[in-house]
Amino acid sequence: MTYKAVKTVVFPVAGRGTRFLPVTKASPKEMLPVVDKPLIQYAVDEALSAGADTLVFITGSSKRAIEDHFDSNAELEAVLQAQGKQDLLDTLRGILPSWASCVYIRQSAPLGLGHAVLCARPVVGDAPFMVHLADDLIDATVPCLKQMVDVFATYGGSVLGVHNVPKQDTDKYGIVTLERKIAPRVGKISHIVEKPRPENAATTLAVVGRYVLSGSIFDDLAKIGQGAGGEIQLTDGIAQLMQREPVYAFEFEGKRYDCGSKLGYLQATVEYGLKHPSLGSEFADYLRALVPKLS
Ligand code: G1P
Repeated sequence: MTYKAVKTVVFPVAGRGTRFLPVTKASPKEMLPVVDKPLIQYAVDEALSAGADTLVFITGSSKRAIEDHFDSNAELEAVLQAQGKQDLLDTLRGILPSWASCVYIRQSAPLGLGHAVLCARPVVGDAPFMVHLADDLIDATVPCLKQMVDVFATYGGSVLGVHNVPKQDTDKYGIVTLERKIAPRVGKISHIVEKPRPENAATTLAVVGRYVLSGSIFDDLAKIGQGAGGEIQLTDGIAQLMQREPVYAFEFEGKRYDCGSKLGYLQATVEYGLKHPSLGSEFADYLRALVPKLS
């Protein structure tokens, strides 16, 4: 059996980012830079490497900067051209390949992640699609969504990116229980719950912000009501989908940084700084000199 190629990715970017105030007062949290690229550009790069050509951003207020980032800027390009700064010009032009299209849909009210994903239905239709939460930055040799699209192509059925979290953190995630393992990193899910308290969590296998979903989930998202936190939860839509179709958990290869938290964001900044091709070795020297002073 062959499966339809996954060409569309949905980026829910309407969240207010209150944990990062004041920096997120007038600027989207997805535009926070990790070294020299905003989080949303890491997200787009990952989705493009996984085969996406249609990028659907579900936006809210104060998110204009995201649209500007992925649009061309003729004035800036002319200035760089006149100054002979070809490398910067190439960097700007390389932000988005010409074959990729961006679609912006405004989420009318912050009704939850499930509702945000449902807003993409007019573009996605009934085809399978990816969902990427830019807060979850994953550093991997093979981009995480690419790994997941390959799992989707092998097994069919929706695929959720998961990893184990400390027991005390289960109330920050969708938590899955496996019916059975079907490959070393792949298991069929029997149960999924949004943000269970640690004492109620059946496992510590947490969904991070990567999904390859069957288009039929839109029927579920349209029907479910409010769930945890009074929001329309993607997790609850997935629980309904599982009644009809297999849903798989995939333990991706790579390191995940929770850039929705200040500590995770700082960790990502340090580690991406150390790996940066032109800054890395100087930054490492700086840290080597600094660390002995920490007590
Ligand atoms: C969302 C999802 C949750 C998932 C998490 C991953 O929660 O609702 O199931 O585990 O993303 O980051 P949020 O972080 O938006 O509260």
